[in-house]
Amino acid sequence: MADSKKVLEIIKAIGAKMEEKKEYLTELDQPIGDSDHGINMARGFGAVEGKLPGLEGKDIGTILKTVGMTLVSTVGGASGPLYGSAYMKAGMAMAGKEEMDMDDFLSMMKTAVEAVEQRGKATVEEATMLDAMVPSLKAMEEAAAEGKTTKEVLDAGVQAAWAGAGHTKDLVATKGRASYVGERGLGHQDPGATSYSYMLEVVAGLM
Ligand SMILES: Nc1ncnc2c1ncn2[C@@H]1O[C@H](COP(=O)(O)OP(=O)(O)OP(=O)(O)O)[C@@H](O)[C@H]1O
Ligand SMILES: [Mg+2]
Repeated sequence: MADSKKVLEIIKAIGAKMEEKKEYLTELDQPIGDSDHGINMARGFGAVEGKLPGLEGKDIGTILKTVGMTLVSTVGGASGPLYGSAYMKAGMAMAGKEEMDMDDFLSMMKTAVEAVEQRGKATVEEATMLDAMVPSLKAMEEAAAEGKTTKEVLDAGVQAAWAGAGHTKDLVATKGRASYVGERGLGHQDPGATSYSYMLEVVAGLM
């Protein structure tokens, strides 16, 4: 499915996507948060980009762990430690591996989702990135079990992630900064669920 080189290519493309969507993600964070999600993501992945040349030839675990540590150390907002833990735990799941197959990918994603649940003390239906992450993982697991191709599995994940991100408009946030606005958050899409959907879209686009 992907080797170390491909993973580096994906991380680079995610950085470019975060830069491209910086303003939009920040706009989404305006009514329910503090208008910094796009800035946070672009800053974090900007720092990651600086680390990429040094990661050439390294195993997938090392690459993902470095991405996670860089996000934690450069992003001040909640999303830094959350995405940071997700990438670090994903890296641990892929320790020493130069290549991943669909089974590796799905168990790595499961580890990443659990990392966010633990770190954020959150679950689905709380209007966070988990509302994109959890249903997309489920959709990918189901598609893989049905014997779909890598591309089809990823596309199913992307579709479910966007549906989950859209669904956050119907939810009153109970975690993070968005919980402060209560019902006034209704009708607004969660920025973290949106950035996650873009990330998975990048992965699918490169499969
Ligand atoms: N406890 C949590 N569990 C899971 N996801 C969360 C949690 N808190 C916030 N999030 C996610 O983080 C996103 C906000 O990220 P952002 O980069 O804007 O940080 P922030 O909330 O502004 O952080 P801070 O308040 O520390 O500045 C939300 O849209 C949501 O998806
Ligand atoms: Mg914010």
